[in-house]
Amino acid sequence: GRSWTTVGDLGEDAAGRPVLVRGAAQAIRPVSKRMAFVVLRQGMSTVQCVLVASADAGVSTQMVRFATSLSKESIVDVEGVVSLPKEPLKATTQQVEIQVRKLYCINRAIPTLPINLEDAARSEAEFERAEQSGEKLVRVGQDTRLNYRAIDLRTPANQAIFRIQCQVENKFREFFLSKNFVGIHSPKLISGSSEGGAAVFKLQYNGQPACLAQSPQLYKQMAICGGFDRVFEVGPVFRAENSNTHRHLCEFVGLDAEMEIKEHYFEVCDIIDGLFVAIFKHLNENCKKELDTINRQYPFEPLKYLEKTLKLTYEEGIQMLKEAGTEIEPMGDLNTEAEKKLGRLVKEKYGTEFFILYRYPLAVRPFYTMPCYDDPAYSNSFDVFIRGEEIISGAQRIHTPELLTKRATECGIDASTIASYIESFSYGAPPHGGFGVGLERVVMLFCALNNIRKTSLFPRDPQRLVP
Ligand code: 4AD
Repeated sequence: GRSWTTVGDLGEDAAGRPVLVRGAAQAIRPVSKRMAFVVLRQGMSTVQCVLVASADAGVSTQMVRFATSLSKESIVDVEGVVSLPKEPLKATTQQVEIQVRKLYCINRAIPTLPINLEDAARSEAEFERAEQSGEKLVRVGQDTRLNYRAIDLRTPANQAIFRIQCQVENKFREFFLSKNFVGIHSPKLISGSSEGGAAVFKLQYNGQPACLAQSPQLYKQMAICGGFDRVFEVGPVFRAENSNTHRHLCEFVGLDAEMEIKEHYFEVCDIIDGLFVAIFKHLNENCKKELDTINRQYPFEPLKYLEKTLKLTYEEGIQMLKEAGTEIEPMGDLNTEAEKKLGRLVKEKYGTEFFILYRYPLAVRPFYTMPCYDDPAYSNSFDVFIRGEEIISGAQRIHTPELLTKRATECGIDASTIASYIESFSYGAPPHGGFGVGLERVVMLFCALNNIRKTSLFPRDPQRLVP
């Protein structure tokens, strides 16, 4: 086959070399009958291609006309020679040009796209500046973007967001493999709710009522019972909650882990500490291009975190809120507002936007959570926050069938519906704990984006099943 060049690899060292490139015609600018520019885009990278009619180069005026008649976003192959630009180019494009010899249109886009990509890629600040200067620019709304996601995903920020997401997932796997965890896949078609509560998608399974898993919870614990001392899973999680918020999806990617506990459930917190510090470092050190690209459209401050993750008790958290004038029911849960406020208070006091809050009241945790040994009104559980929003919940689990049955019943769950799960703990089960992370939330909050739909490729929310 022919040898294809990647746009992102084109540097000044390529000057003088012949290249063959395929990309989307992002911009087409006629200069004269004899000259035109075509900006080709591949993923996050663009390169300016120059067409100049000349007998030497074998470029005719018809070819220049053909290039200028292309519809934007058509897929185009260009053969040409790399050259250094006469005038400095924008910093966001490759710093070389391609002098075009041949240009083929591989597949045409319709003449007018339902979204103007240039507008879709603008920052809020650009719109405000335009408004002040009386220029008319049209904002592309969230719903319109999602309706035409196949176009919207082409903006540089979106290209960067999903590259960051891939890096987070990859680091997650890498870290767990380095700590001797085994990757597993638990079933998503299950017979009953895995988190308690009614928020499940119901379906028929060969004539039997069934539902989509709300988490790998029960099965990752049964994997521990099955003799795996440390497991992790990356997979889809389904929640039928009718939560129309900036941070709830009906389907998201769950990053889950479960492990034997030797002495104390803080062993689980230590894993989270190591994991997230590694992820944050990796993103900051190795994904600068992606983060800068996101920053251009959605400006954000880099996340503040400590080398050793801060742990606060739930009671300390409540106390900090109380001192700042927010009264919280001490045995209740934190609402979104209170979490945000606590996030701000912790940032002021400890200089971190990433922390663990532990020892929650038992009453606000799922039935499988281990009560504290010293005070069963509390639990060996925790949540983890980024910028005042929850990204993880975790805990030590109950590992005896008697206590599990008791707690399930107290939480209004008919123990017979989870009999095989409970029985698993009667065959010899070690103390264990684990946690679940929402991948979309991690990316959203690391980049301080305002909506989880921005970090889901094709988001599923209560209103959206298409595309
Ligand atoms: O807090 P959740 O419901 O906890 C569990 O599923 C437990 N089984 C975890 C464990 O191992 N104890 O969900 C875990 C995480 C949340 O912290 C949040 O990041 C994310 O999953 N999450 C959601 N993300 C997007 N949309 C939703 N509707 C989410 N619900 C939870």
